[in-house]
Amino acid sequence: MSNNVIKHTVQDGVCIISLASKPVNALSKAVRVGVIEAMNAALNDDSVVGIVICSELALFSAGADISEFSGGDLSPMLPEVLAVVEGSTKPVVAALNGGAFGGGLELALACHYRVSVAKNKVGLPEVHLGILPGAGGTQRLPRLVAPELALQMIVTGAPTKVELLQGLFTSLVSPEALLSTAVNLAKDAAGKNIPATCNVALEMTPQLEEMFSQTSAQTAKQARGFFAPLKCVEAVKAAFTIPFDEGLKEEGRLFMQCMKTPQARAQQHFFFAERAAASVPSIPKDTPVRDIKKVGIIGGGTMGGGIAMNFANVGLPVVILELEQAALDKGLALIRKNYENSAKKGKLTQEQVEQRMSLLTGTTSYDDLGDVDLVIEAVFEKMEVKKAVFEALDKVCKPGAILASNTSTLDVDEIAECTSRPQDVIGLHFFSPANVMKLLEIVRSKHTANDVIKTSMVLSKTIRKVGVLVGVCFGFVGNRMIEVYSREANRLVLEGVSPERIDKIIYDFGLPMGPFTMGDMAGLDIGYFVRQSRIEFIAHDPSYCTIADELVEAGRVGLKAGKGVYLYEKGSRQPIFDPSIMDIAKRKADELGIEQRDISDEEIVERCIYPLINEGANILMEGIAQRSSDIDVIYVYGYGFPVHKGGPMQYADEIGLSKIVERMKYYESAFGDYGKHWFTPSPLLVELANKNETFASHKA
Ligand code: 3HC
Ligand code: NAI
Repeated sequence: MSNNVIKHTVQDGVCIISLASKPVNALSKAVRVGVIEAMNAALNDDSVVGIVICSELALFSAGADISEFSGGDLSPMLPEVLAVVEGSTKPVVAALNGGAFGGGLELALACHYRVSVAKNKVGLPEVHLGILPGAGGTQRLPRLVAPELALQMIVTGAPTKVELLQGLFTSLVSPEALLSTAVNLAKDAAGKNIPATCNVALEMTPQLEEMFSQTSAQTAKQARGFFAPLKCVEAVKAAFTIPFDEGLKEEGRLFMQCMKTPQARAQQHFFFAERAAASVPSIPKDTPVRDIKKVGIIGGGTMGGGIAMNFANVGLPVVILELEQAALDKGLALIRKNYENSAKKGKLTQEQVEQRMSLLTGTTSYDDLGDVDLVIEAVFEKMEVKKAVFEALDKVCKPGAILASNTSTLDVDEIAECTSRPQDVIGLHFFSPANVMKLLEIVRSKHTANDVIKTSMVLSKTIRKVGVLVGVCFGFVGNRMIEVYSREANRLVLEGVSPERIDKIIYDFGLPMGPFTMGDMAGLDIGYFVRQSRIEFIAHDPSYCTIADELVEAGRVGLKAGKGVYLYEKGSRQPIFDPSIMDIAKRKADELGIEQRDISDEEIVERCIYPLINEGANILMEGIAQRSSDIDVIYVYGYGFPVHKGGPMQYADEIGLSKIVERMKYYESAFGDYGKHWFTPSPLLVELANKNETFASHKA
């Protein structure tokens, strides 16, 4: 007897319970009910002497069904299922053909024996969902493996190779031998003493006390702002201080404490956001994908070099074009230096460095691009330079080659239109450093063919990026939103707040750095040139980034010059506050008639973050992003927005859209013309707030 997600059959006196819930054996209600039913059937069948739990899918199990956390029927709870398994009077063996994560590993831990294929990984990644293992993982794992290892696995959520988990598995075998090994083990164990994990005694020692306090201190630093990681430490510690049953209760209490936080909602939202980003419903499912076997890069500068590395890293040959041999040599030398640095840090072997370098060739001739399947242009950010490149590509590239631009601001429609094949043109907007940052904005022009979009989405996975589809507008999604954030941060300085204080408040909010540290690092000249190119857009506001303009004009372009908003000692990246910035601010504020005043921390956060959310709403309204969660993915991966807040749109949903509208309206009316220009709430934001809805519920 079987339900459609759990199958069980009896073979040679052993009941084989197979998990078959596509796509990943999430432990949904149907699976939990099915496991209990199958266990009871096996226990009531006198011909059965032992039980094997295995999987029909590639994975053993991805753990609890996360989609049930936001309002599913949780009965029977997973711990109840595991109590049936652990309490079985017949030996139960878990046979892990593939990864077991979260509740999936907890299910295996509740079994009396475990066997696994040797090349397998398992883990307890709950911490990435803002929670901790809630089905005995924090109590059983330390009873089976070294305490340090159990603690690290739970606090970091990192998947771990089974070969490193001594004590957890009876044997590690080949995929072919897995089931027979498990069945034989179940038969051999029949009628003998059953080794239940819950019976293993643990004791606290001074060394363990020390380990827990050190891990707490490290975790507080490394997981700054996150709630769950420290709760993970607390839960594992309980395994050593109280008996198993009480430990389970303590774990349950801490699990619920985490589950009720906005962080858990945000991180669970982000889990699905990241996966939703890969889907483009407007493209038919059977759209073909173009084959990408060789890549061309135009411009081997900061971005071109980093982009090229992404392809070499996954074994794809790349040809880099520069107009001058010297620039080409410089670009290739920089790539080699980056690889050598990774080798020095032990991340690559010298052999891997050479293998990757051998995939990279340079040229100064467009004739060498005739056989590439994809070209990514990363030359200077000037429309006439880009057009010249695309015209040249149009002449030499083979039919069907994808022609991509890494432009950060220019109109991809216009670039496409200068070729005879606009359907093959797309924006592939990498973030700096391009070999490190996970985000790839995939910019669809009005001409881009569906298969070019689909190929780009697939390609983003190949090069281990998170691809997010966006439409054409100035700055696309990420840079369009960051612009309003930077503007407001700059304005706050004019109103008398120091850059240092703003940076500190934004850092405490959870971003890796504040707007001024970031600006100095990127180079203040970048924003300056963007402003120069869009002067008509900001001419009405003389306060617009006026201090930044003055700094750039005085050669204070940021870290690379040793001076920007902050000062830097030679060779140091540590910003030093320069009080003269506040003198410039005072002078400019007087000239512009801007009142300097005391401003609260709360206002600083609102002024920087709410306009960013508001711009996100406009982007959504205009259809530049497919869904609000895509904006969250862009902000978390591209700008370091804290994942424990889920991204700006999720953060807004959590605060409540009415509050954002109310504060935007307040600033709109409080700041005269400035307020009217920059704080008008987005019509979509107002509409959703009036209907008491959220961005997440909005369907474009
Ligand atoms: N619950 C619900 N859906 C899940 C899921 C889960 N635990 N894990 C994956 N899925 C869904 C994904 O959303 C995706 O759906 P979609 O196709 O509609 O977008 C589909 O399954 C396939 O997932 P991936 O694209 O991520 O597949 P991969 O093969 O790339 O990765 C994986 C597989 C490594 C297992 C990855 O899916 C993963 O990390 N899953 C989450 C693991 C996890 O966090 N487990 C802990 C859950 S909480 C828990 O167990 C609590 C317990 O302690 C009580
Ligand atoms: P860069 O100045 O470091 O590199 C540009 C390279 O292109 C130089 O090596 C130059 O010699 C070469 N080049 C210029 N004209 C060329 C031509 N006609 N043919 C061949 N090579 C030519 O500039 P960077 O920073 O790499 O920027 C490149 C592009 O990437 C720009 O469009 C920029 O907006 C975009 N971008 C930049 C980011 C950054 O943080 N630097 C982030 C995302 C996008």
